[in-house]
Amino acid sequence: MRGCHVTFLAASLFLLLAPPVHGGGQGGSDGGEFSGDQSKLSGIIIPGFASTQLRAWSILDCPYSPLDFNPLDLVWLDSTKLLSAVNCWLKCMMLDPYNQTDDPQCKSRPDSGLSAITELDPGYITGPLSSVWKDWVKWCIEFGIEANAIIAVPYDWRLSPSKLEERDLYFHKLKLTFETAHKLRGGPSIVFAHSMGNNVFRYFLEWLKLEIAPKTYIKWLDEHIHAYFAVGAPLLGSPETVKGTLSGNTFGLPVSEGTARLMFNSFGSSIWMMPFSKHCRTENVYSKHFSPTSKRGNLAYLCDEHEFQENYSGWPTNIINIEIPSVREDEAYPSFIGATKMNVSDMDCGFPTQLSFSAREVADGTFFRTIANYDPDSKRLLYQLAESYHDDPVLNPLTPWDRPPLKNIFCIYGTDSKTEVGYYFAPSGKPYPDNWIITDVIYEMEGSLYSRSGNLVEGNPGAASGDETVPYNSLSWCKNWLGSTVNITRAPQSEHDGSDVQVHLNVEHEPEMDIIPNMTRSPRVKYMTYYEDSESLPGKRTAVWELDKANHRNIVRSSVLMRELWLEMWHDIHPDKKSKFVTKATRGPLRDEDCYWDYGKARCAWPEHCEYRYLFGDVHLGQSCRLKNSSADLLLHYV
Ligand SMILES: *[C@@H]1O[C@H](CO)[C@@H](O)[C@H](O)[C@H]1NC(C)=O
Ligand SMILES: *[C@@H]1O[C@H](CO)[C@@H](O)[C@H](O)[C@H]1NC(C)=O
Ligand SMILES: *[C@@H]1O[C@H](CO)[C@@H](O)[C@H](O)[C@H]1NC(C)=O
Ligand SMILES: *[C@@H]1O[C@H](CO)[C@@H](O)[C@H](O)[C@H]1NC(C)=O
Ligand SMILES: *[C@@H]1O[C@H](CO)[C@@H](O)[C@H](O)[C@H]1NC(C)=O
Ligand SMILES: *[C@@H]1O[C@H](CO)[C@@H](O)[C@H](O)[C@H]1NC(C)=O
Repeated sequence: MRGCHVTFLAASLFLLLAPPVHGGGQGGSDGGEFSGDQSKLSGIIIPGFASTQLRAWSILDCPYSPLDFNPLDLVWLDSTKLLSAVNCWLKCMMLDPYNQTDDPQCKSRPDSGLSAITELDPGYITGPLSSVWKDWVKWCIEFGIEANAIIAVPYDWRLSPSKLEERDLYFHKLKLTFETAHKLRGGPSIVFAHSMGNNVFRYFLEWLKLEIAPKTYIKWLDEHIHAYFAVGAPLLGSPETVKGTLSGNTFGLPVSEGTARLMFNSFGSSIWMMPFSKHCRTENVYSKHFSPTSKRGNLAYLCDEHEFQENYSGWPTNIINIEIPSVREDEAYPSFIGATKMNVSDMDCGFPTQLSFSAREVADGTFFRTIANYDPDSKRLLYQLAESYHDDPVLNPLTPWDRPPLKNIFCIYGTDSKTEVGYYFAPSGKPYPDNWIITDVIYEMEGSLYSRSGNLVEGNPGAASGDETVPYNSLSWCKNWLGSTVNITRAPQSEHDGSDVQVHLNVEHEPEMDIIPNMTRSPRVKYMTYYEDSESLPGKRTAVWELDKANHRNIVRSSVLMRELWLEMWHDIHPDKKSKFVTKATRGPLRDEDCYWDYGKARCAWPEHCEYRYLFGDVHLGQSCRLKNSSADLLLHYV
């Protein structure tokens, strides 16, 4: 889960087209409306979970291993050390499960700067975790972006939000980062957040509301944030988090699931992406501040009637189903019986019993209370859930997010991949951390639910499925940020001449309902669907982009996404733009790399834009296909 490319692109586009950076042209006003000069923009990247490098801040002598940890050594992620000295490495990674302090022998801290997020494990292959933002940085350099225009804001992704502020003053520093960028370059920033980086940004916006005077809050936002690109945001959480908590998620690292579980469960952030119900909210922090009776620790978690009329808290199915083996004595698992109104007689008779828990019951702690006598980690989880989430003084992150008051919001995610939405667990008979086994998994896939064996399952599937990590209902929650009428466009992701573009203008959108376009799909084409609203909020724009089959982690490396961001930002900044959003009518090549040899036609593809132009050093035909006109000329087609 990483993420933050958009900024680069956007910023890079501007620079490309803007006159070279110079001291002149300072005439524009700083405040309020941002107009024109793209060279003033900065891009701020907020990476996702586990996407920031952590370095040792201690000297740790590892017995039986030739490799010790010295200050500034990579901890996350150095797979050589991980392999040769797991226990030593764990000491540097794990935190105290309650107070989130470091091991007395080894502490780690997040690295800073862009290099902290470009590659996690340079030189070694660790599957999805190796290269993160590297491609993006390459794009930026290619398009001549200035080094100080792109700012990464890495953070210690092991901490809960309040601990990020308490230990590292992270949100304080983030505010200063925006203010510094504004001062240095004279314009606002574009925020690019990926995956859990969106949760971090949400918390920042709430924290800021309490940090600065209420009257200046909107002014600060308008002045410092031009656009927010939310990529792969788990807006209602993700069931994978529950899996990580109960049985471990190795992220492809060479550790056992039990070890991964032990480590993950020592992090306060392990709960940040728990699935929750869109129908339940905590009372407003403002009202709490002004009401003398309610104090910290007494925030009510209230659900509306839909929660109890609908099944599964609005999710496709129950998040978790636990099978209890046959038991004779009721006392064996008193917590099961206490917490649920099930019939004890079932258990007496020696039949296995199954208990199911919706997203609400996961997020409000019912599930963990129920298994408390059965799982030693429950106590820690319930403590963290109450302390760092439900009773957080700034925000309960396990509540649905309304559209933040930012000028331009683009919510971007992949759809229609097979995504886990529910689990069946049973006790394995082994001790913690290996005490659960997964007996079945429920997947959503293009509007249907399946079990692991491939059988169709009943439930409440959405119109589409998620991005392999986050389910569709959670990703698409931001469709609620659109107004009551929406313009929808569906176009192929690849370069196209406009013959397969469908547009529906002013489609009615019921609040709280999904918007499902009545459009066709040809089976072999991957589409991108744009939902756009520039009307419902004066001066503000909201858009949702769905990319067929884009994967949660790889979406930040997708050249289609980079192209779209680039074009949109280029359009937005252009003084002669004719529409609110960039046209979708055609998509042609923009860079020499986009030109390729068409073997069928024995010429360069896109003959109106690309030509055969051999340069010394070209090794194959496709390399000699080059743009006829400069990128800048081509971009004029997208005003
Ligand atoms: C955190 O917990 C550990 C272990 O329980 C304890 O040794 C340490 O003193 C605690 N630190 C703080 C700051 O409370
Ligand atoms: C909820 O589930 C029950 C039992 O599976 C079913 O009878 C009922 O119709 C469902 N309700 C809704 C609103 O889907
Ligand atoms: C529990 O068992 C009793 C008697 O067998 C039965 O009347 C009741 O409906 C059962 N309750 C549930 C929730 O199954
Ligand atoms: C979808 O569009 C087709 C033609 O464009 C129309 O005939 C059909 O009624 C529409 N369906 C819905 C559900 O709007
Ligand atoms: C939809 O597009 C039309 C034509 O471009 C525009 O006038 C209208 O404002 C757009 N509607 C919304 C909700 O943005
Ligand atoms: C290329 O540039 C020339 C001159 O600037 C212009 O006339 C022509 O339309 C451009 N072609 C494309 C495909 O942009």
